[in-house]
Amino acid sequence: MLNWEALEQTCKSCQKCALADTRHNVVFGVGPRNAEVMLIGEGPGENEDLQGEPFVGRGGKLLDAMLELIDLSRQRNVYIGNIVKCRPPQNRDPLNTEQDACIGYLRNQVALIRPKIIVCLGRIAAMRLIKPDYKITKEHGQWVEKSGVWMTALYHPAAILRDPSKRPDTFVDLKELEKKIREVCTHTY
Ligand code: URA
Ligand code: SF4
Repeated sequence: MLNWEALEQTCKSCQKCALADTRHNVVFGVGPRNAEVMLIGEGPGENEDLQGEPFVGRGGKLLDAMLELIDLSRQRNVYIGNIVKCRPPQNRDPLNTEQDACIGYLRNQVALIRPKIIVCLGRIAAMRLIKPDYKITKEHGQWVEKSGVWMTALYHPAAILRDPSKRPDTFVDLKELEKKIREVCTHTY
């Protein structure tokens, strides 16, 4: 396991998969390194690749607004990362081989942060971190405890933008997240 400085330097020069060839920036992650809550997306899109920060496009604005509803933000109390740190071309899903190459860095981040709660954003992250046959439509908002960490998944912000009928369910899931934070976190609120 690497410390923060070594891990960030390693990621920024990483060439372990072909996504390195087309990226502008490695999107390492953002947020306080003592956060009790981590949010994990699938991988950078175009804006994220250009700016080097997760969730900064239209979906990112929606994510920030969702988080504010329950007094969370990347500036104060949540850390945001992705399964892969470089942008898949044309925003395709990251391949399993790319996820395999990259996920060790995310696991290292989790080991350094030691979050109480991990929230997967969308199906790809949930399949990777919760279970391979995760069904986002059916299982979003459900909680499982995995080696002492509470885990759930929300609809991906981009999916909510495409289908606004997902908003009410997401509001309920956010309120349940707030409840879980009040139960298991000590310095988030
Ligand atoms: N979608 C993701 O899954 N992650 C990002 O960082 C941006 C968009
Ligand atoms: Fe390395 Fe991950 Fe980028 Fe692939 S996606 S080059 S494994 S940092």
